[in-house]
Parts: sequence; C-alpha cells; structure tokens
Amino acid sequence: KMDAFIKNLMAKMTVDEKIGQLNLVTGGEATTGAAVSTGVESKIAKGNVGGIFSLTTPQKIRKAQEIAMRSRLKIPLIFGQDVIHGYKTTFPIPLALAASWDMSLIEKTARVAATEATADGLNWTFSPMVDLSRDPRWGRVAEGNGEDPFLSSAIAKAMVKGYQGNDLKEVNTMMACVKHLALYGAAEGGRDYNTTDMSLDRMYNEYLPPYKAAIDAGAGSVMVSFNDINGVPATANKWLLTDLLRKQWGFTGFVASDYTGVSELVPHGLGDLKQVSGLALKAGTDMDMVSEGFLTTLAQSLKEGKVTIAQINNACRLILEAKYKLGLFDDPFKYCSEERAAKEILTADNLQFARETATKTFVLLKNENQTLPLQKKGTIALVGPLANTRSNMPGTWSVNADFARIPTLLESLTTVAGKDVKILHALGSNLIGDPNQQIWGTAHGRDIPRDNRPESEIIAEAVKIAEKADVVIAALGEASEMSGESSSRTDIGIPDTQRRLLAALLQTGKPVVLVLFAGRPMTLTWEQQNVPAILNVWFGGVEAAHAISDVLFGDVNPSGKITMTFPQNVGQIPLYYAHKMTGRPLGNNKWFTRFLSNYLDVSNEPLYPFGYGLSYTTFNYGDVKISNNSFKPGQKITVSTRVTNSGKRAGEEVVQLYIRDLVGTSTRPVKELKGFQKISLQPGETKNVSFTISEEMLRFYNSELKFVSEAGDFKAFIGTNSRDVKEVDFKLVK
Ligand code: IFM
Repeated sequence: KMDAFIKNLMAKMTVDEKIGQLNLVTGGEATTGAAVSTGVESKIAKGNVGGIFSLTTPQKIRKAQEIAMRSRLKIPLIFGQDVIHGYKTTFPIPLALAASWDMSLIEKTARVAATEATADGLNWTFSPMVDLSRDPRWGRVAEGNGEDPFLSSAIAKAMVKGYQGNDLKEVNTMMACVKHLALYGAAEGGRDYNTTDMSLDRMYNEYLPPYKAAIDAGAGSVMVSFNDINGVPATANKWLLTDLLRKQWGFTGFVASDYTGVSELVPHGLGDLKQVSGLALKAGTDMDMVSEGFLTTLAQSLKEGKVTIAQINNACRLILEAKYKLGLFDDPFKYCSEERAAKEILTADNLQFARETATKTFVLLKNENQTLPLQKKGTIALVGPLANTRSNMPGTWSVNADFARIPTLLESLTTVAGKDVKILHALGSNLIGDPNQQIWGTAHGRDIPRDNRPESEIIAEAVKIAEKADVVIAALGEASEMSGESSSRTDIGIPDTQRRLLAALLQTGKPVVLVLFAGRPMTLTWEQQNVPAILNVWFGGVEAAHAISDVLFGDVNPSGKITMTFPQNVGQIPLYYAHKMTGRPLGNNKWFTRFLSNYLDVSNEPLYPFGYGLSYTTFNYGDVKISNNSFKPGQKITVSTRVTNSGKRAGEEVVQLYIRDLVGTSTRPVKELKGFQKISLQPGETKNVSFTISEEMLRFYNSELKFVSEAGDFKAFIGTNSRDVKEVDFKLVK
C-alpha cells in the first residue's frame, strides 16, 4: 500500500518538488553553527522544504503544517528536534543514563521523551547518539554511552524501542535517528569535528556495532557525522552510506546530513557547493540539514548529468516513506494537540520518574570512613559555584527544559534534609579563575553565581562557615556547557580556582563531600588522594537536585557504574579497558619497566576502571563456577557466581561478565564485556548470578572482515567492575 501511494504521489511531483523534500531547515530557535535558515514560510509554500527542526508547540507546528497543506501537492512536513535525554522532563545526560546499566529504565526515559515531544508537535528525534568514544577530552562524550560496544549496542536498542514503540503510527511514538554515522567519537585529539583515522579491525569490532544495533532495532533514520573516514568525509562517503549501511546492513530508512554537513564538504576540500551536493546525494545522503546545497544546486546538476533523476527519486522516496510510516499522510496535524501538550508534559509521574532515574545514574567514586550517607541532623556547609544554580543542572541539549522551575541544590537540600539540619551556604569560588570570562556563560551557565572579589576573600568566607559545620558539601566541577557539542577540553580536571577552594576546605579538618558535576570522565587523582567522599552526579536532568539530596542523605543507595575509564591524567588518553595486549605488556599493577609498554611518569592503570562504582553497602563475590570447561558450536555453557550483600543496607549491584579470547588469528582485547545483570540485595542476602556463553558470543570480525569464532582457549571473568574480577578458563572446540 505504501509503495503504491508513494509511486502515485511521486508521479505528480516536479523535479523541484522532489528536491524540496530533501531540504531540512531550522525553525530558527536553536542552532549549532553560523548558518540559519531564512525565508522558511515562503519555501514551504513553494514545496521547497521536506522538514523543519527545532520548532515546537502544537500552535507553531500547526502553522507551519498549514502552509505545507496549501502547497501544490500538500505534502506534510516532518518535525525534528534534539530530544536527547528527555523532553521538558529532562533526564540525566546520556553518559549518566548509561551508568545506570538499566536497559528498561533507559527505554522508559525514551518512551517518556517521545510521549512529551509528540504532545508538543514533534515526530522525529535526533537520538540515540551512539558514538563510541575513548577520549574524554571530546565534549560530546556527554551525549553518548561511553567506551564499550556491547553496552552501547544494548542502550541503542533500548532507546530506539523507547522512541518508536511498537508502531510509529501511534501518536505518542516518534522516529529515531541514530547518529552520527560514523566514528565521530574518534575525532583526533578529542577536538570536536576533527579528522578520524581508524583500522577496519577497530571499526568493525568496536566502533560500528552500536550504530548497527540501532538499525537492527528498526531506527527509521540515520544522521551522518562531520568527520572523514578513510579520507572521505562521511557526508560524501559512498562506502559508508551505500556499501556498508544499505548493502551490508540492509538499512531501509532515510539518511540526513548533520547541520551544514553538506556545505562543510567545501572546506573539507571536495569542491564547490554544487559539486559537493552532488557527491553527497550520490554517496547516499538523502536530506540536507541547513546547507541548502541540495535545494540550490541539484536541479542544475541534473541538467548537466552530474546526478541522475533516479538518485533524486530514491532520496525523495525514502523521505516520503518516513512520513507515510508516521501516518502524516493520513493526518498531517496528528501531533498538534494543545490538549495533549497541556496534559502529558511535565506530569507529576514523569517528574517523579526523572528523580528516581537520576538517583540511579550517580556514581559513588570514593567513600572513606562511610562519610556518606549524611545524617539528617547537625550543620552542613554547602559551598561551591554549582551549589545554587538552576540552569546548570540538566546538562547539555536541555533545549526544552524550563530552567526557572528547576530546584537548585541549596533549595533541595534544605527541603530534603528537614528541620533538624541547619544549612549554611557560601559561594566559595567562581567557576573558573576569571569570573567575567564568558566562554561557558551562555544559556546553561547564565545563573551560575559570580563574584568579583579576590579569590582569597571568597574562599575565606566559605572556610568560615565550614568551620562551623559538621560536614562540608562542595558542589564543584564543570558547568554543563563545558561538555557537549563544541566543548572539547585539553585539561579535564576541576578548574584550579575550585580546587584551591577544595584544598582550603580540607584544611579545616572537617569531613568534605565532593559533589562532582561533570559531562565527561575527569582527572581526579588529587581529589581521590585527598577528599574523603566523591559522588559523581554528572548533569542529572530537571530533578537532579532532589535526586542528589536523596542520595546524599541515604534515602537512595547509589548504584551507578562508570561506562568510560577515568584516567589518572590527560597524557594516558586514550585509556580503555578493552585494550590489546602488545608484544611487550607491562602486566597489571606493575610500575615502570624498561623496554616494556609503559610510561616513565605514570603507571598504566586508570584512576577508576570501566564498570567501577561504589555503594553504601558492600558486595562479596564467590568463585566463578562453570558448567563445562569446553563446548562446541550449537552447545552452551553457563558461568555463575554468588553475590552477597555483606553490608547493612539494601543495595543494587551491576554484575559484569567479560570474556577474553586467548589465542586467535587477530590480536584480541584483554577483556570484552559480554553480559551484565543488575541485581538488588537486602543486607545479608545472597543471589546466584549466571550467564550463558554461546559460540555466537565469541565471534569477531577477522582480518578478512568475516564474522567468525575461532576454536581455542578463552577466559571468562565475573566481577564488580572491569578490573576486580574472578576468572575461569574454557575452550571452544570445533
Ligand atoms: O542533532 C544535532 C547534531 O548532533 C549536531 N549538530 C546539530 C544537529 C541538529 O541540532
């Protein structure tokens, strides 16, 4: 039915109308580059626009759709936006959500996001972002799932399911757009938009699987990355967009460029706008976001024989199919309901869910002498530039969050602590040394307090209240715009002025809790050595403050585990758990040895390994048992362990399974995550946790890019993180 409908429609379309469908414009409200779309209304009327992004509310969307309905063929527009971690009910940033290791929770966040966004007129989200990254200098790690292909693939699937539901025709589902194909997270030096260069081994085994997982889960669209791959920018890369995506992976949805991705092919050095637009179309880019290279040049290129009508038809058909799948041809106004917008956005249930979700994403990095949880009595000194801000709480891409209604940590602590706690507050330090420097002072940083007095005076004021308190909470770290798009950093530590505050607070001898706001793994070597308790709270969405209070006071026991390695210093980057062996390995926990693979000045160990995170209780792991030490393809074996809650509080633990292929035709990682289970245990309770291992789980892309398993020796590891594991040997026999 769809094919016939679209064939019939396309038979009536002029070439210009077909090219119009390939044009994606901004609604003028949010931009991530210098270009902004102009003359949008008259372009819609002429059939020169296929979709709009960053335009919201049923009223505005209806107005735009009404113009489209007055165009010659009345083809509806598709409406997109970066609904990355929730809509108005903003959830924690994706890197934080990943730290929950809870796939049904993540799926539900996407479900809630889709319900709210579609109630506000949208039907297409530029999410999930599944760019694997092993470089915390890259600001966009905040938007991704971390360093691991297995975990990121599971999250990709959960998010696509959450957004798209079972049927895209349902009014509360929206089309997902997996991004950014491909390898964007491998930008050299962690500098955003930079060149990438990668072996096929790494690409196929590590960086590509999460995109493929999203596509296998049915993601309706793909966004292309800005970087080049093997010398050809992704937007014009036929190998990537046609040979791999369409032919090898069987993708049937449509492909959009990133913001000005088409015109950026000019500075990449591929030709002028006409040339590069033709190249992008021919490679497999169907929709041009903002550049208007397709709109302004493809008709001429067609006349000159530089592109074919079949190529234009193909892109047009794919975009029309997406609109058809969304049910827009049946009812172009189906997402324009003021009633739904009033009822379904920011509901009490959604906010409660956001609060619970955030508590599950925080990672307790250190807790010496059970400094946490805090008691709900006594005097607390709350200091730091991030203690009393609203706009900084939800994190990057919180474009729909209403900052005014977000509680600050100071407000929330006062409420959650109750009447027996006295809270003292002082700023303590500016965010960065120069309070007037505006680099992080846009939307999210706007209400971060600033103080123009000398640093020593600001710190002294905080020390004074710390001396009167039983415990000090230091709310420090990054402003939310210090991570995210275009926010790469070469120094990923806490800014110096804040660290000097922390040192002065520690000098008082009072217990200090560092509540760390961060959109990336930070270098915390000094903090780990000196601060008794560190709770990494990322950017936790609109209910972040309440969630932080819940965890600080022990109403919720933290259970998050990091999904990116925290290095000791920037010089160790890239540092990730699933590294290869090298011919001269140093071995674990060893110090420098000449002529082995190591550094003179720092060990090879991370500060906190992948999968790490503490709890207010403790978990003991038994030995790893195996059902059979060898098996053949078609058979399965089970590895298991007993996990006991050996502390005094109920808690949740993420039990992790890793596998190592010991001998193979290619070098293989020292460990690869192959399974995880999140369990809850009451004090004293023990649970048996078992994982099934099959031959399929041992497959990898070999040097001929064949997806194979190889007979031989393996190790299975089970543990609380990628470092602290117990192991067992097994064989695959063929
Ligand atoms: O979706 C984003 C993308 O991730 C980065 N550039 C802008 C796009 C649209 O806002």
